[in-house]
Amino acid sequence: TRRLTITDMAKLKAAGEKIAMLTCYDASFARLCDNAGVDTVLVGDSLGMVVQGHDSTLPVTLADMVYHTAMVARGCDRPLIITDMPFGTYQETPELAFRNAVQLMAAGAQMVKIEGGEDMAETVRFLTHRGIPVCGHIGLTPQSVHQLGGYRVQGKDEAGAAQLKADALAIQAAGASMVVLEAIPQALAAEVTALLQIPTIGIGASVECSGQVLVLQDMLDIAPGRKARFVRNFMTGQPSVAAAIAAYVAAVKDCTFPAAEHCY
Ligand code: KIV
Ligand code: NA
Repeated sequence: TRRLTITDMAKLKAAGEKIAMLTCYDASFARLCDNAGVDTVLVGDSLGMVVQGHDSTLPVTLADMVYHTAMVARGCDRPLIITDMPFGTYQETPELAFRNAVQLMAAGAQMVKIEGGEDMAETVRFLTHRGIPVCGHIGLTPQSVHQLGGYRVQGKDEAGAAQLKADALAIQAAGASMVVLEAIPQALAAEVTALLQIPTIGIGASVECSGQVLVLQDMLDIAPGRKARFVRNFMTGQPSVAAAIAAYVAAVKDCTFPAAEHCY
């Protein structure tokens, strides 16, 4: 099998087919995601919470992301592999971001994801003009949890919504080929998706996006503790993890996930 590329993601959007993304941190889950037809796997820095047991993504290092990316790359053949650049590895200068992104690409990523909008546009441009595809991430950006004052819905007032749209346009103009929208109102997700040419991937951003992502351990109901509103337990009624992942892909493709109860 040929590995999917950013061009395939654009083709899915153009064809009106939803993009199914899940987080993935190791080879065994990567194999299950591949077999279930997941289009793209995200080696998310959420692994800091899910795997490492931290209470935020802030302590995750570049070496951690290199390690997990290599494991995921060995475990799957078809999904596009996207790796999060962790906190502190890209905010300082575009040059530092490039140097660090190179390590993730060498480990097996085909694209890196960075949090931030207008403020990160220069960095997005620097990377994309040097051969590194970039996925943006705007709305609730967990690496800024302390600046945001907690994990809360973003873009709820007029100023916040206007800023989010400006952020989306800025990173698209800088060359990003995809953008994650996290925890924003449904109407705003619809507006941003209509505004952009590149696919939007929602998490807590409604069915209006071009695709969806969830943390794998959340949708398998493995991660302990209270779940966010946008999480659905896909193990319910399924005989296996493989079947649960297949059910997620099917629900994303036929637009039955996310439903109204998962939205803001
Ligand atoms: O780290 C992560 O898992 C993410 C997704 C939830 C978008 O950034
Ligand atoms: Na992340």
